[in-house]
Amino acid sequence: MTADDIKLIGVMGSGVMGGGISQTFAQFGYQVIVRDLNDEILARSRDTIENGRFGIRTAVTRGLMTKEQADAAAACITYTPREEDLRDVDLLIEAIPERLELKQSEFGRWDKIVNPRAIFASNTSGYVIAELAQHVGEQRKPRFVGFHWFSPAPVMKVIETIYADFTAPDTTETMMELTRRIGKYAARVKDMPGTYGFVGNRVYAAMRREAQKIVDDGIATEEDIDAVMRFGRNWPVGPFNRGPGSRSGWQ
Ligand SMILES: NC(=O)c1ccc[n+]([C@@H]2O[C@H](COP(=O)([O-])OP(=O)(O)OC[C@H]3O[C@@H](n4cnc5c(N)ncnc54)[C@H](O)[C@@H]3O)[C@@H](O)[C@H]2O)c1
Repeated sequence: MTADDIKLIGVMGSGVMGGGISQTFAQFGYQVIVRDLNDEILARSRDTIENGRFGIRTAVTRGLMTKEQADAAAACITYTPREEDLRDVDLLIEAIPERLELKQSEFGRWDKIVNPRAIFASNTSGYVIAELAQHVGEQRKPRFVGFHWFSPAPVMKVIETIYADFTAPDTTETMMELTRRIGKYAARVKDMPGTYGFVGNRVYAAMRREAQKIVDDGIATEEDIDAVMRFGRNWPVGPFNRGPGSRSGWQ
């Protein structure tokens, strides 16, 4: 399956990430079917996708998109509580809660429902991809991959594609090419048993631990650490997110 073959995308979970991922693909003209547990959740998700802070209609108010473009994007998304409606997707993206056993068992079930050609991609924040694929059949494994977005999905400009030992190289390449087609940088990351997190979350966690140790050891305050990293290293925000308007009051 190449990036050209991906026309219909299924998204499992319409929360913060599933909604943002669905919206992003729709804004690039992809047909998306998003599935969540019931119609009430889906109605809320639809409202966020259309009218939320980073939503499609909000983008019109901000002058980022025309009304016609927004209408076209909104029309690309179908909302359903029925898993069978995702049977014919080319790519299935999982964005359900970060619980290993839930993801493992759901992938196992979806493997039997969704056509065998489809790529399965998990937006897990950090589980080992080989473990997530535990209950899918051997036939699916070459098409099983990690696909880690950052929040807010329509805004952040990188996606990590995580390949396991069994992921076929063309699956990885397809996901990376798809990433580029929706205007984002495609980072290639090797799956690593015994870890949690890929590049972004591991580097961030290490930085955050070190910053906290500096505070705990009484070396510097959170405000001063933020100021040093912002003004000395040109970071947009410091490790403690004490920006303008915070209690420290600096600009
Ligand atoms: N929030 C972030 O900043 C962020 C960033 C990157 C990755 N992630 C990862 O993305 C995944 C989703 O996170 P989120 O923040 O969107 O969570 P969320 O709680 O906002 O959304 C999860 C959605 O999944 C639905 N759901 C539960 N079981 C389901 C099932 N079996 N089928 C379909 N839908 C189901 C829930 O009803 C809910 O709407 C997690 O693995 C998380 O670690 C989150």
